[in-house]
Order: sequence, then C-alpha cells, then structure tokens
Amino acid sequence: MSKIIALAGKGGVGKTTVAALIMRHLAENGESPVLAVDADPNSNLGETLGIDVEKTVGDVREGFMKDPQGVPSGMDKIVYLEMLMNQVIIEREAFDLLVMGRQEGQGCYCMVNNILNRFTEELEKNYKYLMVDNEAGMEHLSRRTTGKVDMLLLVTDYALRGLRAVERINSMLPELKLSVGNVGLIVNRAPKELGKAFLDECDKIGVPIVCTIPDDGALLEFDMEQRSLMELPADSTAVQAVDGLMGKVIESVQ
Ligand SMILES: Nc1ncnc2c1ncn2[C@@H]1O[C@H](COP(=O)(O)OP(=O)(O)O)[C@@H](O)[C@H]1O
Ligand SMILES: [Mg+2]
Repeated sequence: MSKIIALAGKGGVGKTTVAALIMRHLAENGESPVLAVDADPNSNLGETLGIDVEKTVGDVREGFMKDPQGVPSGMDKIVYLEMLMNQVIIEREAFDLLVMGRQEGQGCYCMVNNILNRFTEELEKNYKYLMVDNEAGMEHLSRRTTGKVDMLLLVTDYALRGLRAVERINSMLPELKLSVGNVGLIVNRAPKELGKAFLDECDKIGVPIVCTIPDDGALLEFDMEQRSLMELPADSTAVQAVDGLMGKVIESVQ
C-alpha cells in the first residue's frame, strides 16, 4: 500500500513550498512512483513544480453536474467519468500530479463524488508515495474512505497564530476518522534559535518539531521569477532542511 505524507496548516505558512521540496527530494532520491495531490482549492502546487495545470478534478465534477446528459451515447457514465479523470492526471518523469481544484457548489453530488473518489482511491494504489498538499480544513483527507495518513506534517511559521491553527488541526484529528501514523511539526521561516514562548506553546500542543526551515531568500527570488522549485540550487537552506526532514520521514513511515 502506498505511504501517505500529508501537509496541513494555516494559509501562507509554506505548505506548498514544503510540498514542492518534498517532491524534489523524492524525485532526486529515486523514490518513485509518487503521486502529488494538490488538495487546496487555491491550487498552486503545479506552479511551484513548474507545471501548467489545465484541468482539475473539480472541473470534471462541475462539467458533469452541469450537463449530466453529456455522456456520449452508448457509454456508461462511470467509464466516461474515468476517461475524463485520466485526462486530469499530469504525468512527468519523476512523479504524477493530480489537482483537486475547486470545491463543489450547490446540489447533490453524491453519485459523481462516489465515482470520482473510487477512481482516485484505485489510482493511488499504483504509487509508492502519495504527497497531499491540503488546505487548513483537510476536507480532502476527511472524505477518504481508506482513512490513513502515514505522516502528517503540520506547518507553521514562526508565529503564535500559525501555531494556533496547528493546535486546531491537531485537536480535530480524532473527529476525522483518520488513522494517523505520525504527526510532526515544521517550523518555517524559523530563526536560528526558537524563543521560549514559542517552544512552550509547541510543548502544550504536544506535536514534536521534526524540522525547522530558515527564511530562504532564494524562495522569494524563485517566486518572483515564477521558476520551479525543482531548479533551486542544492545549497539552498530550505532544500537542505527538507532533505534532512525527508531522511527521517522515509524511515518512520516504513
Ligand atoms: N522558508 C521560506 N523562506 C522564504 N520565503 C518562504 C519560505 N517559505 C515560504 N516562503 C514564501 O511564502 C509564500 C507562501 O508560501 P506557500 O508555500 O505558498 O504557503 P501555503 O501553501 O501554506 O499557503 C510564498 O511566496 C513562498 O515563496
Ligand atoms: Mg498552498
């Protein structure tokens, strides 16, 4: 069964950046096949990986809901939806990418959601690793019927507000019917030494810090130039921090 690594945290703390660097690590270390799932409706994982995304799972769902009679005559609707879903998967040499896209609107989506969920769960079985970049509510993870996550990485910046979001997500886990193997905290844009107030707050939440990532000027530069983080120099401090983290993660999910 594939190992599932998931990221969650408040918006803007660096989840997608870390997600891209995790993909980079897995690709460079021959850990394949990997499926990256962009489960944030505000999807931008593709951009950080240098990939143009044209179609999302949300587009397939909405298209079908708008015109349920649009299934070509003689074709079963499950086969039709699966065909459309196959067009959503973006295949690259080192990994594949699936972008969930917008969340559903009003209406009864049960039937189409069941078909799409079944498709993604079957698809996932083909991969050694699944890396899921979530939004704060973890809507995507909470819907899975095979509710397991091997490593949940909660991301915060060096601020108490980021930590509060981590606390909320962590305390929500029991309600999500999700079996979580390991939970770790990533402190992004961290100073060399973390202050006592911050560390005390981390202690209270009870999630161990598994990685600190310094502020890395190269990330800002790449963001401005819209360059793929796959091209970051190997001596970038963020790359090195995530490489160190992934050594531990791969070991702990085996
Ligand atoms: N360690 C870091 N150093 C410098 N800039 C960073 C760092 N981590 C993230 N950023 C920048 O912060 C912004 C938000 O990061 P992003 O990964 O998109 O957050 P999220 O996915 O949590 O919303 C991006 O412009 C990104 O380049
Ligand atoms: Mg993001």
